[in-house]
Formats: sequence, structure tokens, C-alpha cells
Amino acid sequence: SLCDIGFIGAGVMGKNLILNLADNGYRVCAFDLDHHKLDALLEQDARERGDQPARVETCNSYTELLSRVKAPHLVILSVPAGAPVDDVCNKLLDAGLKADDIVVDTGNSLWTDSVTRCKRYEGKLIFFTTAVSGGEVGARFGASLMPSGDPYAWARIEPIWHAIAAKVDPKSGQPIERFEPGNPVTEGEPCAAYIGPIGSGHFVKMVHNGIEYADMQMICEAYDVMRSALEMTPAEIAEVFREWNEGKLNSYLIDISAEVLATVDAETQQPLVDIILDRAGQKGTGLWTAVSSLEVGCPAPSIAEAVFARSLSTRKVLRGRAAKKLHGPDIGPVPEAERAEAIQQLHDALYCAKICVYAQGFDLMKLAAREQGWQLNFAEIARIWRAGCIIRAVFLQSISDAYERDIKLSNLLLDDFFIEQIASNQGNWRRAVADASLRGIPVPALSSALSYYDAFRRESLPANLLQAQRDFFGAHTFSRVDRPENEKYHVQWSEKGRPMVKV
Ligand code: 6PG
Repeated sequence: SLCDIGFIGAGVMGKNLILNLADNGYRVCAFDLDHHKLDALLEQDARERGDQPARVETCNSYTELLSRVKAPHLVILSVPAGAPVDDVCNKLLDAGLKADDIVVDTGNSLWTDSVTRCKRYEGKLIFFTTAVSGGEVGARFGASLMPSGDPYAWARIEPIWHAIAAKVDPKSGQPIERFEPGNPVTEGEPCAAYIGPIGSGHFVKMVHNGIEYADMQMICEAYDVMRSALEMTPAEIAEVFREWNEGKLNSYLIDISAEVLATVDAETQQPLVDIILDRAGQKGTGLWTAVSSLEVGCPAPSIAEAVFARSLSTRKVLRGRAAKKLHGPDIGPVPEAERAEAIQQLHDALYCAKICVYAQGFDLMKLAAREQGWQLNFAEIARIWRAGCIIRAVFLQSISDAYERDIKLSNLLLDDFFIEQIASNQGNWRRAVADASLRGIPVPALSSALSYYDAFRRESLPANLLQAQRDFFGAHTFSRVDRPENEKYHVQWSEKGRPMVKV
């Protein structure tokens, strides 16, 4: 009999999504240009299923794929973002794909590319997207899924996505995790929700990644302070992260950071982290978020700082030269007796800055949604990030609650719960940032979040002087505090008495 789903791309993510679909009872026929990947898929299926019958099928061409899947076809793509997506769509069209067939792109595509593609293939195929977060384990046992596009396609895809998504225990708000092949989690609330028109799902995933970048960077900054100023070993820092993971900072990223820091390299017997070169890679989604925030005019400084931090890290040779020439402050390490207090300060700094990063990310989604005419449900977006995805954290329940209380909330920082959280923790945040600065330890994400908070809560900013500067050198005009804002004024700076004229 025919398969339910055609699947193209059996790389790490694709293979795991296929096995997840199979675990949930869907019959999948897979195709990849690289036969080794299909062999690896079949091998893993054979390993996992023991003496049960094969759960996945593979084929040798696009045409064969279509002939072995029920019509109208549902074809899922897990191929690298960019040109390969179009390449596969065109190959499928050549192979006979029809206008009512659905193609779902699950890669980390640029959201504007999805919009373009939807238009390009209109009348030829239904182009739908689903952004997937959760890395290979998420793909295998439950990811966070951000679908967008044609609602007709969504009606068909919804039950499938609900099946393979990560699940949350509705009572505790915590992920229900079970990593057993053939025994998927079927209970709980699925982390898959329709985001909106084409493009919106990948936009939301892009912002997820921007937050991910900032979250990771801030954990690295806390690590750096503990390492450089508190002179703690990676194993000691792992212990601190483990403790933090029991409280408000509980999250996947804190958890894996603890695991990394507790790991010893088998060959050298050194802490594993010490043998890893400090040049960060990036594939672009954090950069896209920062660029998008600049384009939309939405301040997201901590996300941008996280991208810059990765760029600066790659200039290792230059840093090596600068390290020998540039001077910093000459302060010794934090005395042992003050260590516990310094650790608490870092904890609170991380917590407050994290609130600001989410405030930036959600603000960006809000502004973009307004620009694009999307109706984004922020409570739901926070809910589908509670499990499966890389930024999953208990904290997301509080964000979801904030948007449940007020769906029109203009910024997370204005929610009563978060107002109180920052009010009661900010002292330590300020001390941690100040102390790092006095010691010459860079904390770009933690400190830019603090500046964001301080600027956000100021009714007056020095932009009055800035407007005057602009008017001085470029006659750019300004509004007056005592007149309607649409009235523009200019000072004739070079004339005697500097007369002001209404423009
Ligand atoms: C996820 C991740 C995933 C991936 C990104 C980020 O949500 O599962 O964000 O999409 O890890 O590619 O990678 P870079 O750090 O290389 O940009």
C-alpha cells in the first residue's frame, strides 16, 4: 500500500524526523541524493526495531517517491536552506507534482525566502513551511514546531505535527521527556502551533535563534567571570550551573553547559572546555535576527551583542596580538570569602538580563507582525517553546502567563510579574556588571541588557541633544516639547542670536 508521507533529505535532522514519524505510526518513503544517508536511515531503523517489520522505506528518485506516496502528496523537505529548497521543488515539479500537493520546508530558511517561494510556486504546488527547533534529539523524540502557510495544508499537517512534537505536562508546565525509539510521548500538550501566514513561522524561529544566541552568550559571560575573576575550575562552575538549574534559571542551555563543564577530555585528562578553540561559528540565524531588528527599528541590543561576540571571537590572532599590548585594570581575583556573594550576583544578573532578552525578542516579533499584518499569538509562541526547542526553560511559562493576562502587552518589561522580578533582583545585576567592568571582563550581553532596561524605563533620554546636533550640521529639524510634535523647527545656527524658524 502507499505511504502517507514522502520525505526528502535524510541528513541528521531528516533521518531523525523520519524515525519520529515512523514511531508515531506514519508510513514514510524517504529519498536523498546521497545513498549512504538512506542506508544509514535503514540501518538505524533496523537497529531500533529489533525483530519488528521495517518502519521506513527508501526510494531512488523523485518520480519513484511520488509513485509510492498517496495523492494528493505530502512531501516534507529537510535540506540545507537556500538554493537546495528550490532545486528540490523544481525536481518534484518535473517528476509530476500537482497543484494540490503539499511541500513542507523544515530547514532553517530565511523567512523572506519562504514568502518568495510561496508566490513562485502558486498554482504549481502548495508551499508550506515548518521551522523546527530542538536539534537532532528534538527531531527524533519531539521538537518544537513553528508551522506557517496555507491553512488548508495546515489542516492536513496538524495531526502529524502534534504527534511528533515535544510535549509539555499541562500541570507542571515541564517537558515530558522520553527518549525511547518506538515508544513516543503521546500525552501532554504538543509544542506545535500554527503561527500564521507563510513566512511568519520562520520569522518566529529566527527570533527564537536570536534569543538562543543571547542566552548562550550570557551563560558564557557568567562562566567567564567565574573563571577569570573567581578563579573557579570548570568542574566547580558546573556545580554552580547545576544548582542554578534547580531554580528560576532552569533551562536546557544551563543544563548542557553544566554537562560540558563537568566533562574531562579522555585523551588529555584536561577539562574538555579547555581544549576547545575559542572561535565561535554561526550559520546566520542570529545575524538575521539582529539585521531584522535594525531594519524594523526594534532595539534588540543583547541579541546583536551576542552576534558581535561571536565575530570578535573569530579574530583570535588579532586578539593574541592585542593581549600583549593593550592594558586593562590591575585588580586581583575576588577574595574567597566574597565568592558566594559574587556567584549570587551573577545568577541574578543572568536572570534579569534574560528577561530583557526575551523582551527584545518578543518586541521584535510584535513590530514585525504589525508590519506584515500577522496576528501572532505570543502566549502560544511562549507555550510551544516550553519543550523540545533549544531555549526551553521554566521561565517560558511565566512569559506565556504574562501574555495570557494581557494579550496586548506592549513589552514584557511592563508585565507586573516581570516588573517585580527585575525590581527585586536588579541590585545584584548592577553589581555583577559593574564588577566585571572594573575587572576588565567583557560582559556585552549582560551589560547591554542592563542599558536596555535603564533606557527603557527613562521618560527622558539625551535624544534632545542628538536632535540638536542633527539640526546643527544638517538642518534636519526637530520638534519642541511645548508644541505639537508634527510642527518642525530649525535653528539658524550660523546667524547671530541663533533664531529659530518653524519649517
Ligand atoms: C534549534 C537550533 C538550530 C541550530 C542553529 C543555530 O533551534 O534547534 O537553533 O536551528 O543549532 O543552526 O546554529 P548556529 O549557532 O550555527 O548559528
